Amino acid sequence: MKILVAVASRHGATRDIADEIGRCLRSELGARAVVEVLFAENVASVDDYDAVLLGSAVYMGHWLDGAAGLVERQHEGLRQKDVWLFSSGPVGEPPKPAEDSVDVTGLVTLSGARGHRVFSGRIDRSRLRLPERAMVAALRVKDGDYRDWTAVRDWAAEIAAQLKATKGSGHAGRG
Ligand SMILES: Cc1cc2nc3c(=O)[nH]c(=O)nc-3n(C[C@H](O)[C@H](O)[C@H](O)COP(=O)(O)O)c2cc1C
Repeated sequence: MKILVAVASRHGATRDIADEIGRCLRSELGARAVVEVLFAENVASVDDYDAVLLGSAVYMGHWLDGAAGLVERQHEGLRQKDVWLFSSGPVGEPPKPAEDSVDVTGLVTLSGARGHRVFSGRIDRSRLRLPERAMVAALRVKDGDYRDWTAVRDWAAEIAAQLKATKGSGHAGRG
């Protein structure tokens, strides 16, 4: 089976999460799967894939255009695949925003996703542009890497288990 992990990331933190998801899927599925991790804006079509995990960093309550645009362009193809969405946003201890960090209701419906998961993110003011720093000031959080790698790996393992169950034991190629 062929799996796509597609991601939109402005400062790299969500790209790292996508890479980790890719590593976990490869290790869980072994020879059953070929896993590709790509930036969402570089994905022309999802036709070649059996399953798609699509994620985005969250800015001002929304996904980045690269990821949202892929859903808009490819929603018909996505609806024929097993699709899961993930977001990376909340930062701080405890994580902020605590609720409603992102609204992906429309994207879940459009893509026919089986689920959506929110992971915490990273704030590093030295990487931010001036207007972004001003917006972050309102959140009143300290710089830090709040990403929860155990949560990321557990989620990828859950999806691998579901894919093993639904796609059988065929080898990579078509299965
Ligand atoms: C200007 C700005 C606005 C943000 N807005 C939100 C938000 O609305 N909700 C949220 O959960 N996280 C928000 N965040 C946190 C980011 O999503 C988090 O830092 C994420 O890890 C960034 O990922 P990236 O490095 O892949 O771009 C915001 C961060 C910045 C700098």
